[in-house]
Amino acid sequence: MATILNDISRTFSEYLLIPRLTRKGQVADKIGLGSPLSAVEKGQEPRFSINVPVVSACMQAVSGTKLCVALARQGGLGFVFCSQPIEAQAEIVHQVKAHKAGFVQSDSNVTAQATLSEVVELMKQTGHSTIPVTADGSAIGKFEGIITDKDFWEFEDDLDGLVRDHMTPLASVIHGLDGISLREANSLLHKHKKDCLPILDPQGNLTSLVFKKDYEDHRLHPLELLDDTKRLCVGAAINTHDYQERVPALLAAGADAFCFDSSDGFSEFQRDGIDWIREKLGNQIVIGGGNVVSAEGFDYLVADGERGNRGVDFIKVGIGGGSICITREQKGVGRGQASALQEVSARRDAFYEETGRYIPICSDGGLASDTQIVLALAMGADFVMMGRYFAMTEDSPSPKTPINGQMYKPYWGEGTRRAQNWQRYSEGMDTRKMVFEEGVDAYVPLVGPLGEVLEATLYKLKSTMINIGAESLSEFRDRAILTLVSEQSVVEGGTSNVFQFSPNRELDNGGWGNPG
Ligand code: IMP
Repeated sequence: MATILNDISRTFSEYLLIPRLTRKGQVADKIGLGSPLSAVEKGQEPRFSINVPVVSACMQAVSGTKLCVALARQGGLGFVFCSQPIEAQAEIVHQVKAHKAGFVQSDSNVTAQATLSEVVELMKQTGHSTIPVTADGSAIGKFEGIITDKDFWEFEDDLDGLVRDHMTPLASVIHGLDGISLREANSLLHKHKKDCLPILDPQGNLTSLVFKKDYEDHRLHPLELLDDTKRLCVGAAINTHDYQERVPALLAAGADAFCFDSSDGFSEFQRDGIDWIREKLGNQIVIGGGNVVSAEGFDYLVADGERGNRGVDFIKVGIGGGSICITREQKGVGRGQASALQEVSARRDAFYEETGRYIPICSDGGLASDTQIVLALAMGADFVMMGRYFAMTEDSPSPKTPINGQMYKPYWGEGTRRAQNWQRYSEGMDTRKMVFEEGVDAYVPLVGPLGEVLEATLYKLKSTMINIGAESLSEFRDRAILTLVSEQSVVEGGTSNVFQFSPNRELDNGGWGNPG
């Protein structure tokens, strides 16, 4: 007969943290959010760490170049999806590594023959108000001029009119030459009172744009995750089918860390992959494994291989909790994320006692609010992986889509037909044909730039850490005391017996309680 566990599969929203002593002098600025991403031998420094405990899901709708750059600039790490050809994935890794802070490749461009209505549409989709005009309409084509939302009036001008009749032509555009430093570019912007500076190569091709706002942004982000040569860090997902070709190609492109992308990582296929990578490329390379939801799965992936090579560096926990995931419904496999995390974290701590090797744990999927992120980190996760959270930002790769007056972004699972990620869901099957889907194709509301959204989340995290009297994430885990909540106490935690104003009501100046 099957083994029936006595525990109940629990989720984060069933728990609350009990406050502990807040100490004098504890302020948000002094709280450290750094976390190891590689295994740490007792008494040694991790080989690779992140500066804030968040990484992006290896998904087509999430981890493109722009998002990986934006996340690394905040101190986290993007994992470029592997549901694409090796060369395409290596190109994204390369673009993140080649990103020069402050110099961005233009992602919306037009030709001089485009109509104003095409420009209006592009501006709506991308949110950009400055569009370079190039001979072939590409980001690196011969530069001919620039058109901004100030060059025409959407409701006055004939929208069938052509860009060439409204743009500022090259001869009148203040621009910089390739090789210019960020400081020089910024003094040009400052001197000519411009917001955007196109950078051209000696042949007159557009290479990048420098924005005034990016310069200011750069000064505000001291936690940027940089490698030894000051390039942004980026991670890459791998699968169990083509790692022998994919990993070397991604390493050559500059990937800093890898993780197997699998809905069920407790498999001989993944173990073979880990052993191959360790034997061919050594123990230094940073590899994550998973996903698992049990101590048994953890032990299998972290154990030393038969030939003495190391297991994985970090473990991803979570099956079936993702916002777009229907694995539990389709296959009856999975576990409540809180229960899975608790079991694997307890095993991680015991493993550390036994071996002196600390294996960071990543809680992957199903984090529906900032509170749940905080609870995952309190419960044992060293860092969290999120898909929906990042898909909702301006920086995710999918286009903004207006629906009923609200802006949305498409977000789809890697186990959908759309993602065509047959590798991930076909292990052990004779055919790689997708027989059923494990994810859904959906829309999520647009929430704003990644930097702003993450800043608010991390501020809440720090504020909770202060309630618990913790100054680092490891102290947070050690000091955390969690309690299960009843349904009634969840109700008690919401507002009760009050009539709330709508959040967008006009602020009442001089109302009740304000005698002035
Ligand atoms: P989210 O943060 O709740 O949106 O979950 C993201 C996580 O869901 C990813 O990191 C994957 O582990 C998982 N995932 C991605 N695509 C699928 C899918 O199609 N089916 C099931 N799980 C998925």
